[in-house]
Amino acid sequence: MSGREARYLTTPIYYATGEPHIGHAYTTVLCDALARYHRAAGREVLFLTGTDEHGQKVQEEAAARGLAPIELCDRMAAVFQDAWKALDISYDRFIRTTEPQHVAVVRAVLERLWATGQIYRAQYRAWYCVHDERFWTAKDLGPDNTCPDCGRPAREIEEPNYFFRMSGYQERLVRHIEENPDWIVPQSRRNEILGFLRQPLEDLCISRPVSRLHWGIPLPFDQEFVTYVWVDALFNYVTASGIVVPDGSDDAPGFHTAEPSWWPAALHIVGKDILTTHAVYWPTLLMAAALPLPRQILAHGWWLAGTSKMSKSKGNVIDPLALAREHGSDAVRYYLLREMTVGQDATYTPERFLSRYEELANVLGNLANRAASMILRYRGGRVPDAPGSELWARTQQAVAAYRDAMETLQLHDAAAAAMDLARAGNGYVEERAPWDLARDPSRAAQLDETLATLARTLVVLAALLCAFMPGKMRELARRFGFDAAPRLHELDSLSVAGRTVRKGPVLFPRPDLVRSEP
Ligand code: MSP
Repeated sequence: MSGREARYLTTPIYYATGEPHIGHAYTTVLCDALARYHRAAGREVLFLTGTDEHGQKVQEEAAARGLAPIELCDRMAAVFQDAWKALDISYDRFIRTTEPQHVAVVRAVLERLWATGQIYRAQYRAWYCVHDERFWTAKDLGPDNTCPDCGRPAREIEEPNYFFRMSGYQERLVRHIEENPDWIVPQSRRNEILGFLRQPLEDLCISRPVSRLHWGIPLPFDQEFVTYVWVDALFNYVTASGIVVPDGSDDAPGFHTAEPSWWPAALHIVGKDILTTHAVYWPTLLMAAALPLPRQILAHGWWLAGTSKMSKSKGNVIDPLALAREHGSDAVRYYLLREMTVGQDATYTPERFLSRYEELANVLGNLANRAASMILRYRGGRVPDAPGSELWARTQQAVAAYRDAMETLQLHDAAAAAMDLARAGNGYVEERAPWDLARDPSRAAQLDETLATLARTLVVLAALLCAFMPGKMRELARRFGFDAAPRLHELDSLSVAGRTVRKGPVLFPRPDLVRSEP
C-alpha cells in the first residue's frame, strides 16, 4: 500500500455548510483525473474525499437552519456525495469527521502530544474570524478590525486555551522544504510559504472552550475544551490511511502505528487559500506525532467570477451540477481541467465554456464521427488490417507528451496534447481525402491504411482522455469495437484490425440541440 506503485491522493474535506460550487468541483475533478490516470497506469490508488463537519461555522449554520449540527452534516454529506456521483468522481473513501474512527484517531494523537509535552495551557487573547475559522493578532487585522482574508468583522476573544508548540518545528520545516524542492508545487506557492516562514512561527492554539463551541471533538485531557477544527480536519488524511491505531501503551501513549498502511499520502490537492494550514500546521503536527510527512502538496488557483473569488457568501457561484445537467458531466470536467492552468487562477465565463465545448464537438467529436462513418461506408464497419501511417508516429509523441504532463501534474497540458492529436487527425483526413481513395480501386491499400490509422488514433484518444471524460471516452472506445478505453501500457501493442465499428449518436451534440432537464 505504501509501495512505490501505490498512490494515496486526497482532496480537502469540504465544509458541511454550503452546496458544492465549481471551486470544489475543480479540486475534486483534478484529483479524480489523477486517480484514474494512475489506475490506468496499473497503480494501486486510494482516492480520499469527504466533509469537514465540526467547528463554529457548522454549529452556526445548523442553528440558523433550525437543525441539530449532525442533521445538517448528514444532509450535506449526502449533497456532496450526490454531486460527486453526478460528476463521475471515482473516490474510494468518503470520510466524515464525525465518524467514530476519526474521533478516536484525533483523540489518540492529541493524547500522545499531551503526554510528550507538546501541548500546554495558557491564557489566550486574539481576534477570531468565524467564517475562516482562523485566529488573528491585532496587527494582522484589516480596517475596522476585519479579517485580513475574507474582510468580515473579526471578534476579540480572551480565554484559556491549549497550545501546540508549533514554533519548535520551524527550522525543521524550513529544512524539509529546502531539501525537497517539489514538496510544494507550484514553485510560486513554495516561495510564499518559505517567505511566511522567514517570520518567527508562533505556537498554534488547538482548542476552543465548550462554553463557546460545543460542536467539536473533546480534548482527551480536558473535557471543557473541544479540538480546533483545523487540527481535527487535517487528521482526516491520517485516519483514512489506517496508520494510526488508537489505544497506545505506556511506551507509546495514545496510539501505535499499523504496517502496512496508505500513509504517507502521495499528494494533497488543495486550493491556495488553504496552503498555510497544509504546508505549515499539518507537517509540524505530523512531526510532533512522529509520523512521516505527505510526499507532495499541490496548491491550485481560484475560479474567479470577474475578478473576485467565487464563493457562496458573495453569491457569485456557478453550479457545476446545473452545467452538467445541461452539457453532460464530461464536458464540465473537460472544461475545468483544460481551461485552468494548474496553479493559476481562471475566470469562468459562459462564452469560454461554450468555446471549450465546441472544441470537443468540432475536433474530437467530428473526427470520431468521420472515421466511424467512413469505416462503415467503405469497409462495411470492419476496421481493415493495415500498417500504421505517418500519423502513428505523431500519436506516439502525443502519448509521451500526455504522460509527461500527467506525471508533472500539468493536466491542462495533458488535455491539450490529446486535443492536438485529434486536430492532427482531422488534418490527416483532409490530406488523405479517403473519399477520393474510395473511388479508385487501385488505391484500396491506401484507403485501408488511412481507415486503420484513424481507428487506432481514436482508440488512443479514448485511452488518453478517459481520465478526463470517463463516460464519453468509454462510448468512443465502444464505437470502435472495444469494451472500454484501453489502459496506457496496452497502447504499444494495440490492435484494431477486424474490430466492428458501430453507428451511434453524435458524441458531443450541438448545445442548442441538447435539451436541458425541466
Ligand atoms: N474544510 C476546509 C478544508 C479542510 S482540509 C483538511 C475548507 N473547505 S472549503 O469547503 O471551504 O474549501 C475546500 C476547497 O475548495 C479548498 O481547496 C478551496 O481552495 C477550494 N475552493 C473554494 N472556492 C474556490 C474557488 N473559487 N476556486 C477554486 N477553489 C476554491 O477549506
